[in-house]
Amino acid sequence: MTGRALRGRLLYFADDPAVAGRAAVRYHEDGLLVLGDGRIVAAGDYADLAESVKGLQIDDHRPRLLMPGFIDTHVHYPQTQVIASYGAQLLDWLNTYTFPEEAKFADPDHAAWIADFFLTELLRNGTTTAAVYCTVHPQSADAFFAESARRNTRMIAGKVLMDRAEATPDSLRDTPETAYDDSKDLIGRWHGTGRQLYGVTPRFAVTSTAAQLDAAGTLLKEYPDCYLQTHLSENEAEIAAVASLFPEAVSYTDVYDRHGLLGRRSLFGHCIHLGDDELRRLHESESVAVFCPTSNLFIGSGLFDLARVANGAHPVRVGVATDVGGGTSYSMLRTLAEGYKVLQLRGQNLPALDAFYRVTLGNARALDLEGVVGGFSVGTEADIVVLDSRATPAMAHRMKTVERLEDELFVLMTLGDERAVRETYVMGVPVTETEKDDGRA
Ligand code: GUN
Ligand code: ZN
Repeated sequence: MTGRALRGRLLYFADDPAVAGRAAVRYHEDGLLVLGDGRIVAAGDYADLAESVKGLQIDDHRPRLLMPGFIDTHVHYPQTQVIASYGAQLLDWLNTYTFPEEAKFADPDHAAWIADFFLTELLRNGTTTAAVYCTVHPQSADAFFAESARRNTRMIAGKVLMDRAEATPDSLRDTPETAYDDSKDLIGRWHGTGRQLYGVTPRFAVTSTAAQLDAAGTLLKEYPDCYLQTHLSENEAEIAAVASLFPEAVSYTDVYDRHGLLGRRSLFGHCIHLGDDELRRLHESESVAVFCPTSNLFIGSGLFDLARVANGAHPVRVGVATDVGGGTSYSMLRTLAEGYKVLQLRGQNLPALDAFYRVTLGNARALDLEGVVGGFSVGTEADIVVLDSRATPAMAHRMKTVERLEDELFVLMTLGDERAVRETYVMGVPVTETEKDDGRA
């Protein structure tokens, strides 16, 4: 067994602190994580475990925090050069900025270059697992999975499906048949290959015909342990377009429901403007609503109602995500900071312990990956982020008045970003690269 141990302030969750309270929180002020063959062998107090690691390499990260690697439940790898595009709401933003950029991914070299940049950036931000959209080109998914496999990161990804002529440029259109065949081929080659998992990815109801959504439903029936990821109820003009394209459906959610796309491994980005019946169907099907705060603010889509979605009459499972490049940061810390502000505008709150639960175990649960990633229970894959709450002068200065863990975590999520990430481990191996110029324009 290849082993190593990490010493530091361990923080992880055994449950949701919003439900189980402080009993959900596992915190070891002088803690030790023992790793073997890329997995967690033990997590606890240094004093209790020191004897067991004699002779093992110990990476001493004190006084930094060691947490499970962050999880991003909705992000677009082809949008690293779309992020920070000015002045448009969803449908214009797609047509003006996103579609032209995604057309470049017909070129496998371009896709490989961006996949490399994207994964480096995720890991620099402490994100070790993500649910990722590729482009319509199967080679974009191959490039992404190949790069993720090379780095041994646990990623969910899929080729985007978009076949509707009125809503897609010629360069980005597939058909129901190629959507099915190409996805099936990718599933065969990548789903369950090492740490890679496949997500069937119809972009959204605006860009897919009913025949293509049927093909997506067929794939999910054939491969029930694959994921489904799409967008739902993000923007008013989008919702109106869906209503006119699918007049037989009673709601936007019903469009996906009629095609068999709801379920435990179905991830619906945004979910801002849902009706009660839609929430009820998401609840009944155990589907996941994904909160994308920086994106919802940047594209001007609206304020996610966490209390209504997660704790309403029909509680829906919720994930948190960056949604780069509609989102404006790769950092789950910055995402939490903006999430907190969105909820403030809704008269709701996001306590720091709940917030860090959400980007670790909470998102692992949203991805149906509890026990695989997102925690430090024995056997979990050893993806770890090392966090420095004093990473910047402003953080160090603010930290001088902090006495409680909750307050430290709130400083970290409010003022922190990738500068607070001192190291990231993937399957027990430190991976943070120093920044390099790739020489490309
Ligand atoms: N809806 C359909 N496609 C997209 C996309 O790429 N980003 C966002 N934010 N919403 C979408
Ligand atoms: Zn998105």
